[in-house]
Amino acid sequence: MKVAFVGKGGSGKTTLSSLFARYLAATGAPVLAIDADINQHLGVALGLDEDEAAALPALGGHLAEIKDYLRGDNPRIASAAAMVKTTPPGRGSRLLRVVEDNPVWSRFERPVGGVRLLATGPFAEGDLGVACYHSKVGAVELLLNHLVDGPGEYVVVDMTAGADAFASGLFTRFDLTFLVAEPTRKSVGVWRQYRDHAAGFDVALRVVGNKVEGPDDLAFLRAAVGDDLLVCLEHSRYVRSIEQGTVRSLASLEQANRTALARMLEAVDAAPKDWATFTRQAVDFHVRNALSWANRAVGADLTAQVDPDFVMAPAQAPAS
Ligand SMILES: Nc1ncnc2c1ncn2[C@@H]1O[C@H](COP(=O)(O)OP(=O)(O)OP(=O)(O)O)[C@@H](O)[C@H]1O
Ligand SMILES: [Mg+2]
Repeated sequence: MKVAFVGKGGSGKTTLSSLFARYLAATGAPVLAIDADINQHLGVALGLDEDEAAALPALGGHLAEIKDYLRGDNPRIASAAAMVKTTPPGRGSRLLRVVEDNPVWSRFERPVGGVRLLATGPFAEGDLGVACYHSKVGAVELLLNHLVDGPGEYVVVDMTAGADAFASGLFTRFDLTFLVAEPTRKSVGVWRQYRDHAAGFDVALRVVGNKVEGPDDLAFLRAAVGDDLLVCLEHSRYVRSIEQGTVRSLASLEQANRTALARMLEAVDAAPKDWATFTRQAVDFHVRNALSWANRAVGADLTAQVDPDFVMAPAQAPAS
């Protein structure tokens, strides 16, 4: 299951991504945690020290290598250079499984807090003004487009604040999107904006309240968000102690917050998996992308990369 955490800057996306990923791992499930924010904080939230986090290999710095692996011998994708972030898999492409040995995982994942962490990498001076098809954040969309996850396997993605995810099809790649909202008008405003952008794209979106202190906060969120509010996490001493440098076992997380994580897991497991829609959306966004800039940027008709008879499904990937 693919899960995203989105929301206003500072609402707690990274904090809840890390808590939820650790919670899943503690159940014994395989978990990939992906830091899709170019301000990289997920590693530290999961328990790396600053030096270890700075040394994480950056997916975004090795796009050509990743594309070369994913395109496999798909005859519609002539080269890594012709592959853009939305290029969908087709027959001959290499699909990724959550649990398998492959060169992408072995090169980029690092174990931390019981999960396997992958990072987009930070924004560097040299990225300024670089054309979209070289863009680092495209790495996550490419991986998700090629990833066939099964039930009981989880991919948790800590997203950038704001509307960047709408620059391509990234926002449609998830079985469930958690919008983290503090009990403030601004945070709720970001939810409305996200919901409105996502409307019409089959995006399953639920609000997770965060830093809630008392019944007034809860009532505010309930009134503002209505039935889209799944659950709330309280303001947490445990989270504060992580910020102060101590990552302790999740067993010492406040009971109410653990219950909230359990509720979130139930919601993820109950989310329907629809590979036909997943595939169709990848194709739609790729065609859109090709026509709006990618054909011009690459100098080829990238709509021809679409394999019309291909549907993503677990059966498409060779057994590991
Ligand atoms: N439930 C909570 N209780 C106490 N503090 C919290 C809680 N959730 C988040 N925080 C604190 O709020 C701050 C912002 O959280 P976090 O970095 O997770 O937000 P973010 O949405 O990822 O921010 P950004 O948009 O910068 O990526 C951090 O200092 C974090 O420790
Ligand atoms: Mg963050």
